[in-house]
Amino acid sequence: MTEQFDFTTTEHTISPPREQVFGEDVRADARKIVERYPESRSALLPMLHLVQSVQGHVGNDGIEFCAEQLALSAAEVSAVATFYTMYKRTPCGRHIVSVCTNTLCAALGGDEIYKGLSEHLGVGHDETAGTPGEEGSLTLEHAECLAACDLAPVLQVDYEYYDKQQPESALELVKALQRGEKPAPTRGAPLTDFRTTERQLAGFFDRPGARLGDTVDGPSAAPETLRGAGMAEQRGWTSPAMPDDAPIPPLPEKE
Ligand code: FES
Repeated sequence: MTEQFDFTTTEHTISPPREQVFGEDVRADARKIVERYPESRSALLPMLHLVQSVQGHVGNDGIEFCAEQLALSAAEVSAVATFYTMYKRTPCGRHIVSVCTNTLCAALGGDEIYKGLSEHLGVGHDETAGTPGEEGSLTLEHAECLAACDLAPVLQVDYEYYDKQQPESALELVKALQRGEKPAPTRGAPLTDFRTTERQLAGFFDRPGARLGDTVDGPSAAPETLRGAGMAEQRGWTSPAMPDDAPIPPLPEKE
């Protein structure tokens, strides 16, 4: 076991050795990710998702693993991992529940939804109810606009959409997740769990029991979202053509 001090949370943690957490299978996946890019450092974002699929968060050993695989310093990896909110520095639950509390959702009930879930779970932003990773454990977070304002108020579970929520429906959804159920999202792919989603975000679609086409089985756009495009089609509206002589900016020289 290795003792680590996490400077972002000021907590000591005891973890198994890095080679045990990131075994040969994970290293093989890391190599596949690196092969997709002309420069290894460009693979950092999917590599951090791979780490989350293994650890359920990005620990110090995960940062060191990325640095080692990509020939970066731990400080460079840490700067990226702490900048983006999708990378979690403390262990997450089986699912992550993201409640949009941006302006439109907040005005239509998002704040009440968040408050109700926070009270029910007994946790605040970026905190986990239950034992991280175990069945029924949930991480709650405030989210900025989830790009579904026409379906407000919305929340996501493992980044899948649950549209037009109310405090009561959101509470029922969370209770179902705590019972180990996986209610179908309003649109998009079937619900899995946080770590499986992270593996998909790393570019791997090989989850156990997956069938070809699973990821596109659900409706991908709601009628509300398509209404404008439908009206334009009915009325024969088109966007202005690009002028033939529009200047094409040159590509920057590669150093
Ligand atoms: S404000 Fe909630 S999705 Fe845009």
